[in-house]
Amino acid sequence: MSYFSHQDGVLHAENVSLSAIAEQFGTPTYVYSKAALLDNFAAYQDACQGRDALVCYAMKANSNLAVLDLLARQGAGFDIVSGGELLRVIAAGGDPGKTIFSGVGKTVDEMQLALEKGILCFNVESIPELHRLNEVAGKLGMRAPVSLRVNPNVDAKTHPYIATGLKANKFGVAFDEALDTYRTAASLPHLDVVGIDCHIGSQLLDDAPLLEALDKLIELIDTLDAEGIHLHHLDIGGGIGVDYGVAGDKPSVPVGDYLGRLFARIDAWGAAKQGGRPIKVIFEPGRSIVANAGVLLTKTEFLKPGAEKNFCIVDAAMNDLMRPTLYQAWMGVQPVTPRDGEKLVWDIVGPVCESGDWLARERELAVEQGDLLAIMTAGAYGMTMASNYNTRGRAAEVIVDGEVTHLVRRRETPAEVFALETMIK
Ligand code: LLP
Repeated sequence: MSYFSHQDGVLHAENVSLSAIAEQFGTPTYVYSKAALLDNFAAYQDACQGRDALVCYAMKANSNLAVLDLLARQGAGFDIVSGGELLRVIAAGGDPGKTIFSGVGKTVDEMQLALEKGILCFNVESIPELHRLNEVAGKLGMRAPVSLRVNPNVDAKTHPYIATGLKANKFGVAFDEALDTYRTAASLPHLDVVGIDCHIGSQLLDDAPLLEALDKLIELIDTLDAEGIHLHHLDIGGGIGVDYGVAGDKPSVPVGDYLGRLFARIDAWGAAKQGGRPIKVIFEPGRSIVANAGVLLTKTEFLKPGAEKNFCIVDAAMNDLMRPTLYQAWMGVQPVTPRDGEKLVWDIVGPVCESGDWLARERELAVEQGDLLAIMTAGAYGMTMASNYNTRGRAAEVIVDGEVTHLVRRRETPAEVFALETMIK
């Protein structure tokens, strides 16, 4: 189902026209579809039905409190990478007991906060981190639940900035060093070794790398078992890709099928053992929950046709949506009210003072000054990566639920952008 479609010649989010949203809330504005969010999450939940499994939404993709609240109410757990994200989970009514903490650089304060709030597990990425966590837990008189993020050295075949499972990446414990690192973890008095995890990259379009990574984790779990280190959960990470509308570049199977194949492999492994092996399975999806649930709504300020290039200057910019300039990401562009007339090839650019400030390049469009455009599939890593560059207040965010529009973050004012600053004498 498409949650954004043209009805009576106007692009709608569910049943609300984007032109009405622009009129009411201004532009640029992120517009999310509640139904899309819930359906995307349900695809994971349905595939996990009847199993000991937990879907921990990777909130770095979109951490608006309203989004977290909706998912928490569906039973979601959360994958966090900072103390700030944990405070968001709690503010949104999420359960710290279903929250896992990833990331290579956890501070003492963050560890302490997470222990005090009772998170499910720390995904530890290095030996010094194990020692720090052991010390912090000891001071609190606690044992910290630990999983090791293992780097399986699998090529995720994605953009180098978002591939994380290769030896050359900073993430995780190298596969060859994992056994020794587990031995260290098991020897530390204030750690409780409970799991294993990996995350090989983002925007994976094929399930082969995930299955390859899973096989390596399974091999390691068996080796650890033989050593007397028995793990209770296996976390395969996130990374399942979405269809951005680039020809030939979409996920090879729906989410349910990805999960089905992973579970089939896990079941076959369990069945091969005497008596089977009960192991909890955790997923950390981000993009596949929120990307196609959002668009960035923007207005054309000026048209600047030229000898070499035609520029369509809009009021959204790289500070609102970094993906194009940072990863050369291709984002779909749709006119909110398509018009007849001559189509030209346009670069859609923002007002920021950088040549890298572009949202889309070489798009054939019939467009005029004042027209609204929607940058599609922008619900993931859009608002969360936004900045205040050029003292631009960040965009508003709304969620559409059927006929109703909820403002879930109001537009930031320039005064708020510099409110934390002080002058010196
Ligand atoms: N788990 C861990 C440990 C991660 O590092 C990530 C994403 C995820 C889960 C969620 O992955 P997803 O399901 O969203 O692929 N800003 C980039 C993507 C960065 C991904 C970082 N890690 C982009 O806009 O493409």
